[in-house]
Amino acid sequence: MEQTEVVVPKNLDELIAILHKIFESDCINVEEVQQIMESYESNPQDWKKFAKFDQFRYTRNLVDEGNGKFNLIILCWGEGHGSSIHDHTDSHCFMKLLQGQQGEMVQKSQRILMENKVAYINDSIGLHRVENGSHTEPAVSLHLYSPPFQACQTFDQRTGHKNTVKMTFWSKFGERTPFVTASQENN
Ligand SMILES: [Fe+2]
Repeated sequence: MEQTEVVVPKNLDELIAILHKIFESDCINVEEVQQIMESYESNPQDWKKFAKFDQFRYTRNLVDEGNGKFNLIILCWGEGHGSSIHDHTDSHCFMKLLQGQQGEMVQKSQRILMENKVAYINDSIGLHRVENGSHTEPAVSLHLYSPPFQACQTFDQRTGHKNTVKMTFWSKFGERTPFVTASQENN
């Protein structure tokens, strides 16, 4: 694989532009994506227009469609909000914490993601569940999924019962998505 120079994105727009370039190739270098996402230093000024919270559960807010190669999504987690156990439909998933401190459960091992750090997961690594471990502070995370997917599977922790859920967006490009009734979203 070609060695690319490390460019440090000064803001979210620059990060998106670099990601577009990287994903022009059909061969994805996981470490390269992880490194570039990590090198962007989170600035709320860049992303606050996408960060739309709901009182009751976490929200998925579409930031960029990556020329059809990836979806870049900002997830907003209220205090104690968490996802159900889910898979990633055979996509790569990169998750960067923009604000707060999040607990991530991968199978049975638990880890905490610190601000600006990027975690990587795919279905061969395992099913997982993400939650905002804080009961006093909200959290905001940036997720990149490639290729983009429209549905995923969730699993009942107790029974193992499997459900297919459609992915929905609470907002797209900073605008609240109207008439989303079923809150079936997952990450
Ligand atoms: Fe996930």
